[in-house]
Amino acid sequence: SGPPALPNAMTAPAGAGWSAESISQQCIIPCLKYYGICVKDNFLGSQLGDRVLGEVEALNHSGKLRDGQLVSQKSISSRNIRGDQIAWIEGKEPGCESIRALMTRIDEAVMCSAANGQLGNCIINGRTKAMVACYPGNGAGYVRHVDNPNGDGRCITCIYYLNKNWDVKTHGGLLQIYPEGKNVVANIEPLFDRLLVFWSDRRNPHEVKPAYATRYAITVWYFDAKERAEAKEKYKLATGQKGVQVPVSQNSRT
Ligand code: OGA
Ligand code: OGA
Ligand code: MN
Repeated sequence: SGPPALPNAMTAPAGAGWSAESISQQCIIPCLKYYGICVKDNFLGSQLGDRVLGEVEALNHSGKLRDGQLVSQKSISSRNIRGDQIAWIEGKEPGCESIRALMTRIDEAVMCSAANGQLGNCIINGRTKAMVACYPGNGAGYVRHVDNPNGDGRCITCIYYLNKNWDVKTHGGLLQIYPEGKNVVANIEPLFDRLLVFWSDRRNPHEVKPAYATRYAITVWYFDAKERAEAKEKYKLATGQKGVQVPVSQNSRT
């Protein structure tokens, strides 16, 4: 029962050490165009991936993560909607050097993909800080939602997962995406060193199933210049950290 799973074609072949150029051309551009979703395994390689995981564990264990917030529905306890704990990381904080390196790598891949109109009319001019998120493993998840249902400017969601030996059968924590207008579901396991890229708007409603082990991920959202400018006019942007725009890495090689 339920809709059929999306084919694995949205997943690019594994291969460490790819350039931003080849990740863009072979994975992000075609997968976003065809599926609206792209999965890239072995994104950083295990050495840098291990260092990112160590920094995220240190943030969690030093008590730097707080309950995730919601932009809307302020009257409802956010606990019933999302059970993660988060911190917003700019990348310059001490002890976040590898997270910064991850952000630079994602910046390169996304900017390379969006260059020269390769992602249609999506023109990227900035992004959020990185949201480090931990589902503590108490059965909490994140109910079905759309990241950007009302044109706040975010066009691409990138999530980097950090979970070794993750078994969805016992640990849960599956991300399920239900692409709009298609009777399919994309089941994405939150596996170590996996990068997920998808359109942030109503094309991709998604939910995190209850997690029964500590589940770490790092998310960045990229802004479309035009939609962002219009949103600034419309809403005056009282939207918390997801409304804070920072430039993409200047040391990008792309
Ligand atoms: C959300 C959201 C804002 C924030 O949960 O969808 O936009 O600052 N949250 O966490
Ligand atoms: C979110 C979200 C998905 C995941 O934070 O908005 O949908 O797999 N996270 O962690
Ligand atoms: Mn989401």
